[in-house]
Amino acid sequence: MIIAPKTRGFICITSHPDGCAQSVSNQIDYIKSKGKIEGAKKVLVIGASTGFGLASRITSAFGSEASTIGVFFEKPPSEGRTASSGWYNTAAFEKAAHKEGLYAKSINGDAFSHAIKDETLALIKADLGQIDMLVYSLASPVRTHPDTGVRYKSTLKPIGEKYTNKTVDFHTGEVKEISIEPCTEEDITNTVAVMGGQDWEMWINALKKENLLSPNFKTIAYSYIGPKLTEPVYRKGTIGKAKDHLEQTAFTITDSLKELNGKAYVSVNKALVTQSSSAIPVIPLYISLLYKVMKANCVQEGCIEQIQRLYAERLFVEETPTDDEGRIRVDDWEMREDIQEQVTKLWEQATTETLPSIGDLEGYKTEFFNLFGFNFDEIDYTADTNEVVVIPSLES
Ligand code: NAI
Repeated sequence: MIIAPKTRGFICITSHPDGCAQSVSNQIDYIKSKGKIEGAKKVLVIGASTGFGLASRITSAFGSEASTIGVFFEKPPSEGRTASSGWYNTAAFEKAAHKEGLYAKSINGDAFSHAIKDETLALIKADLGQIDMLVYSLASPVRTHPDTGVRYKSTLKPIGEKYTNKTVDFHTGEVKEISIEPCTEEDITNTVAVMGGQDWEMWINALKKENLLSPNFKTIAYSYIGPKLTEPVYRKGTIGKAKDHLEQTAFTITDSLKELNGKAYVSVNKALVTQSSSAIPVIPLYISLLYKVMKANCVQEGCIEQIQRLYAERLFVEETPTDDEGRIRVDDWEMREDIQEQVTKLWEQATTETLPSIGDLEGYKTEFFNLFGFNFDEIDYTADTNEVVVIPSLES
């Protein structure tokens, strides 16, 4: 079929297999160009098909020659209907990994469920024996608790008072004001239940119970802080409460890993265009200004550059540097004082008319469509393309 982008709100409901393969191949090339990382060798990535999780899987496999198991929740293709991009990304990843003799298997399903945890544990037991790292990079709007069956929905709301600020519809370029009503107590509970650390801890406990964690085991999850500008809707909002919980969970997990000399980390990463961040009000405008400033200062990074730096300069060095609250920081360039000063100035000037010149709206859009395999120069989008692509390890 001929595959073109079809957007609905902040998501794209089609994706291009060859474009996704191009994106994966570009990330692999980047990792290879940076040289070997003495990292973990048997790695489980939860949320492995897009964004930071995919970048982590690629960095482990192609930077450290790791065997990887990836867990994700993606829509497979059918005749005349494209898969979700994470499906195509994984198909391309596995093919590239297998070509180099690297072990790579995947599990598609709800990582919050007992069934998917059991399936993953059985696969580790059968194929790898133990793992030496777990990357937890899940981003989801909902979670059904596996014990109670309660379904929680996360929200992106301010706490305490209504928040009004500018935002951009990045498809039309229109900058307008939005107001978000404050959350209820229940919104906080629900968001923490979905995006907090409980499921991360459940994974670790399940693996530990079955003796599937090796000595010196490491686990890492990703967090975000961001600037004052977005604080009410992000770090001091409902999602920020979930991130507080996730960060606290790292300490609980570290305590539980004492006998293995294991350690749990949280890395605070930079703001990037991913399927999850496009859904957060205000953030797309902030990102388009941030990209402009970071590019002008030659410090712009994407997911793969962030994770490469995280592994090579933070995680797999003799002593992992952390901030006062024990977090790894690879948002250091985003949060540089001079960068934030420039972004704040631009924020005040941002209107529908000025944004195309003062912000990187084009860069935002390109990266957004790249997430779904579109807008790659190397791909002929007029060509007939086979949408029914299989993920080798899921073919049965
Ligand atoms: P993403 O949307 O690109 O990736 C989410 C991943 O989770 C995908 O692999 C998806 O298949 C998987 N997933 C979702 N629901 C699932 C379920 N029920 N079961 C199994 N897999 C499921 O997200 P992104 O942006 O890479 O986020 C990953 C982490 O990084 C999140 O914790 C996020 O808060 C954090 N982060 C994101 C930043 C950003 O600007 N995008 C900045 C800093 C941290």
